[in-house]
Amino acid sequence: MAKFICTKCTKVFSDGNEGAKCPQCGAGYPEVYEIKNSDELLRKEVDKIMEEREKLGISNLIGGLECVIINTERRNQKKAAQELVSTTGLEYEGTVESENYHTCILRQPGNADFLIRARRHDCNPFREINKAVKTAFYPNTRLETLVFKAKDLEKFVEIQQERGVKFMTEDVIHYNDYNFIQTMPSQYTGNSIGFIEWLKEDREYFNEGTRRLEWDIRKPDRPHLKNIGKLDHCATRVKCEDRDAAICEFLSLTNYHFDFAIYVDYLNSITNVARLSDNEYAMVFTAGISPYESDEKTGPTEKFVHNYGHRVHHMAFLTENIEDTYENLKKDGMGFLVELVGSEDEGLKQTFSQPSEYTLLVNEYIKRYGDFDGFFTKSNVTLLTAATDNQ
Ligand SMILES: [Fe+2]
Repeated sequence: MAKFICTKCTKVFSDGNEGAKCPQCGAGYPEVYEIKNSDELLRKEVDKIMEEREKLGISNLIGGLECVIINTERRNQKKAAQELVSTTGLEYEGTVESENYHTCILRQPGNADFLIRARRHDCNPFREINKAVKTAFYPNTRLETLVFKAKDLEKFVEIQQERGVKFMTEDVIHYNDYNFIQTMPSQYTGNSIGFIEWLKEDREYFNEGTRRLEWDIRKPDRPHLKNIGKLDHCATRVKCEDRDAAICEFLSLTNYHFDFAIYVDYLNSITNVARLSDNEYAMVFTAGISPYESDEKTGPTEKFVHNYGHRVHHMAFLTENIEDTYENLKKDGMGFLVELVGSEDEGLKQTFSQPSEYTLLVNEYIKRYGDFDGFFTKSNVTLLTAATDNQ
């Protein structure tokens, strides 16, 4: 059944037809329209955001991705860190105990840092949004926060608070080596966006009041892991009706721009790409073209959001010698949702692992060839999206 949205009062309703009146506020056309994503509407909104960003003087205050925070259940934290160093190029740097967290630090030169974390106490601001059909055993598990480099963080936060952005803390938190703040989880994506302003040496997470824990996490000596490089993109799956808002929210918080969208009609899925510049980490948002109806009818993207809630679905790592690496990861026991798709001629090869039982995240391995300047190909996007139908 078609769904409609009233842009005046944001009521979503389904018992309507062309020219329907909003049952909440009585508004009609042009305030009421059928929910079906199109880039025409999105591009208009994006233009407004870019103008506002310029006007507010925040265009150049936020840079690239600095770190990714993945929270797990306490029982899974070490296993999640061990799994990630065993299936990527990341190395284990150490574990920090702070007042509220145990945090394993994974890093690799040229890559964002990965903080694999579990809360020491039961208070978790993400708990409500973690609730979904298939997440009963994972009330604390999520890629929670993407942290971007900031300058003049106080000014940035003041401007964003005036725009109505809600942060987890009233003020910027000042540590010895950095200033930090993060937004409340987004109602559209479940993601929090973090901002870090380094004061001294880049990327020092040990502070006064933290202590180092000796945990036995070891990177296995497997040469093919050296082929796996930096984080290329993360893909967040969101509801059809939240696609435009999710993208606009992210653009208004960062210095990213909306690049393009690929529509795969028969899977009811749109893959949308936001970028900072070539060769930098990209943010991908995937949503249905039309809203969830039933598992059978709705396609893998909307079905995933229905079952797991809106969240990051996969993390994509740039991978050299991808055929060899893929074969060796399989020999190591890693399961995959799909074989390698694409070809050198098309400019791109990719595959998806099975989701992790510790983080719920899929790893994508991606090789970009030569001077291919498209970010994705429609055929790969179609095959990869279809492969997630059984999750
Ligand atoms: Fe991807």
